[in-house]
Amino acid sequence: TMLPMNDHPAQSHSLIVTIDGPAGSGKSTVARELAGRLGLDSLDTGAMYRCATLIVIEERLDPADPAAVVRAVDRHRIDFDWTRTPPEITLDGRAVDGRLRQPDVNELVSRVASIPELRDLMVRAQRRIAERHPRLVTEGRDQGSVVFPDAEVRFYLDAEAGVRARRRALELQASGQQVDERAILDSIQSRDRLDRERSDSPLQVPEGAIRVDTGTLTASQVVDELESAVRGYLARAASGGPA
Ligand code: DC
Repeated sequence: TMLPMNDHPAQSHSLIVTIDGPAGSGKSTVARELAGRLGLDSLDTGAMYRCATLIVIEERLDPADPAAVVRAVDRHRIDFDWTRTPPEITLDGRAVDGRLRQPDVNELVSRVASIPELRDLMVRAQRRIAERHPRLVTEGRDQGSVVFPDAEVRFYLDAEAGVRARRRALELQASGQQVDERAILDSIQSRDRLDRERSDSPLQVPEGAIRVDTGTLTASQVVDELESAVRGYLARAASGGPA
């Protein structure tokens, strides 16, 4: 999209930045930090699928029954408290983020996220969020490929499974948990498989996406790279050139 010549306040113009990639590629940290540097809102779409999964768990639903899952998710309100940085996810007004990172949710979320009818619901919710937060960094698995194919800047973060398992292990250790790195690697690999092989919106590199291998970079080096790509885009858009 090009800015009209007389539309000077770049601040008011919509700017959607998507970040996709596999589990443990560092998306959430990077998305949050990039949003902070650029003064954009940030959206963690994985948290929305985790929240739907929590509903499935709490209501003891069968994930093999899509209609029941969608009906249940529809009855609840998955929302974000935008007064917080990063925005905090709520389920019917309850802060649930910590709960969403527990093992039972980790184990079930890929299955729930593979339900096409549920994905439709989430995609529509994400587009509604972007209407109200049009200056947004949004991260997930399908943000640049399916949800916002016209996003101004699209990124794809990657790293080898072993590197991602290592990172997750260090994170868990830092929060005082016992870790079995081998088990983490297994779970990352099986999640990768499910995310890549599902028939609806499998994880893929969006067209036109800038790929960044985060394996040898620190989070802040990754953010440096993304920030300069977005600033480059903005400079080209402002000068009326091809974006
Ligand atoms: O990024 P995460 O680990 O919080 O994601 C949780 C799960 O949700 C993961 O299995 C992939 C899935 N997901 C998805 O299918 N589409 C998205 N846009 C975001 C996450």
